[in-house]
Amino acid sequence: MSTRNFIEHWKRTHYCGDLRASDIGRQVVLFGWVDNRRDHGGCVFIDLRDREGLAQVVFDPSFEPGSQIESTPEEIAQAHAFAEQARPEWAIAIRGLVVSRGDNANPKMPTGEVEIHVVQAEVFNRSATPPFEIRDDLDTREDLRLQYRYLDLRRSAMQRTFRLRHLMNQVGRTYLASQGCLELETPFMVKYTPGGARNFLVPSRHAPGKFYALAESPQLFKQLFMVAGFDRYFQIVKCFRDEDFRLDRQPEFTQMDIELSFVNQDDIFALVEGLMFRLVKETTGVDLKDKYPDEHFPRMKFDESMTRFGNDKPDLRFGMEHVDLTDLIIQHAGGGVPLFADLARRFADGTLRTDIRPEIVKGMRVPASAGLSRTEADKLEAVAKSMGAKGLGRAKVTADGSWTQSPFAKTITPELRKDINAALGAQDGDLLLFQFGKTAQVHTVLANLRLHLGKKLGLIPESGHGGKLEFLWVVDPPMFEYDEEQKRWVAAHHAFTRPHDEHVPYLEDDPARVQCYRYDLVLNGFEIGGGSVRLHDPEVQKKVFRTLGIGDEEARQKFGFLLDALRHGAPPHGGIALGWDRIAMLVSNAESLRDVIPFPKTQKGTDPMTDAPSSVAPAQLADLHIQVIET
Ligand code: AMO
Repeated sequence: MSTRNFIEHWKRTHYCGDLRASDIGRQVVLFGWVDNRRDHGGCVFIDLRDREGLAQVVFDPSFEPGSQIESTPEEIAQAHAFAEQARPEWAIAIRGLVVSRGDNANPKMPTGEVEIHVVQAEVFNRSATPPFEIRDDLDTREDLRLQYRYLDLRRSAMQRTFRLRHLMNQVGRTYLASQGCLELETPFMVKYTPGGARNFLVPSRHAPGKFYALAESPQLFKQLFMVAGFDRYFQIVKCFRDEDFRLDRQPEFTQMDIELSFVNQDDIFALVEGLMFRLVKETTGVDLKDKYPDEHFPRMKFDESMTRFGNDKPDLRFGMEHVDLTDLIIQHAGGGVPLFADLARRFADGTLRTDIRPEIVKGMRVPASAGLSRTEADKLEAVAKSMGAKGLGRAKVTADGSWTQSPFAKTITPELRKDINAALGAQDGDLLLFQFGKTAQVHTVLANLRLHLGKKLGLIPESGHGGKLEFLWVVDPPMFEYDEEQKRWVAAHHAFTRPHDEHVPYLEDDPARVQCYRYDLVLNGFEIGGGSVRLHDPEVQKKVFRTLGIGDEEARQKFGFLLDALRHGAPPHGGIALGWDRIAMLVSNAESLRDVIPFPKTQKGTDPMTDAPSSVAPAQLADLHIQVIET
């Protein structure tokens, strides 16, 4: 009998990782990669790997299959000869009989109760020696892993991650479709509009000197879908932003983008909560109903978040909150501390506006139980400086409430010290940390210090959720920010966010008080989503532009087509975009976004595998009417 080919004749019967004791006695055909090979003098064992896992296959020249499986002695001999040569990462096929491993069962392997005695084998393709071993506990440099990403992706941890992303997409699609959302597509090559993230530009060959922008999000188009009457939309979509790199940022990333008509903020939250409950259940097995029985995530106002945590994405897995001491310092006219006295004076004489509070003083208490040594406390100052602080005020609290190890200790009045101790809840042995100066800087330094200490003191893990998922909606941020340099109000997010109705009267005289329906969804200190209820009322829109000092002509130039669309019967609408990669990173305990994007860019924005970005031929540039300026 002639040998019959794999694929043409012998089709795959199982994935390697699916075999179980119930398959004993079956003929199976497996396709996969040689994970490892062991020669036990005569018998050769190969762990064969495919996307579902490993199976042990045995090449035994003395195997006599009898009538259980179709085979010829030549095939068995050939298979054995093949096994002698086989090497890791060869792509192969085998046909064989599933038998019990009996006492030799390997309880660590899901397929460990069985092995496959091979009667026929074939190599589809040999492999060059891989630059690193295909195993999960790998400490190869990331650059090399990215250069050979297709090999890196063979590792079971990576296979799990991308199956998780597949699952996320399925769950997201099924749920949103069940809620009446239509999956619609928007263009990537769009008109450049100012504001927002920096865009990547695409030169137009047909219109010399003109450029498309790669869409930083489908924002304007999804609003146009609402104007067009599609009512509810979603899209799993790539977005492009030429931003500086961070562990949770990639230049191209994926959003689950959503927009709804005839809704308010609560309706949007309810839809997203439903999605997140399902997503977390399917990807981690955790039922968020145990933690949030009313099936809603908690909400915190933006101002409260800034005051207590120094940012708008607080990690609620641990405490160590900040306390704003500015009012106390003003009340005590600086309380004997020269730098505080200076601040209090500038507030008193109107140099610093109390409504805007361009400078503040904040404190944070590190409990005595943290057991920080003096040297460790000294090091915190270096950490603060690395974040841009000029220094880090400190005080160690003694049993009677007085302070030691502190530059403030000598001059501070007992009254201010007592009030600060009370505000911070200071106890014997606690370490108090202070930061004062420009508001944004104070918040940032203390927010980062809080995270640094949270990790250092083991309150949260270096990366991953550590078994805790703390969701939070951060709501009601200010609509405008005061730009100190330009001495004017600018939109904190964008000019198309709807202000709270009761704040509309403040638009002209007191913009600092105007809050808006913009919101972020936060998980464990990461912003995993953001959106807003849009401003669809042309009258209010005009007032907002007036506050921003944008005239009719400028508005037309900047936002022409959106303004036009909003004039043609736009329904009330709003939406959100979820950072799909960030969610994947958080639920899978990955260290960075690069671990959850199949072909990511390095921190320098390069792709070591394809060598992008790369130079192009002068003729190609000439076609595009582009000249490179050498610097
Ligand atoms: P926003 O700019 O807040 O909103 O983006 C939504 C979410 O996308 C994620 N994200 C990123 N993820 C990875 N790499 C990046 N560079 C990156 N930038 C943002 C974050 C963020 O919360 N059009 C609006 C949404 C709306 O208003 O409906 C928008 O894009 O998780």
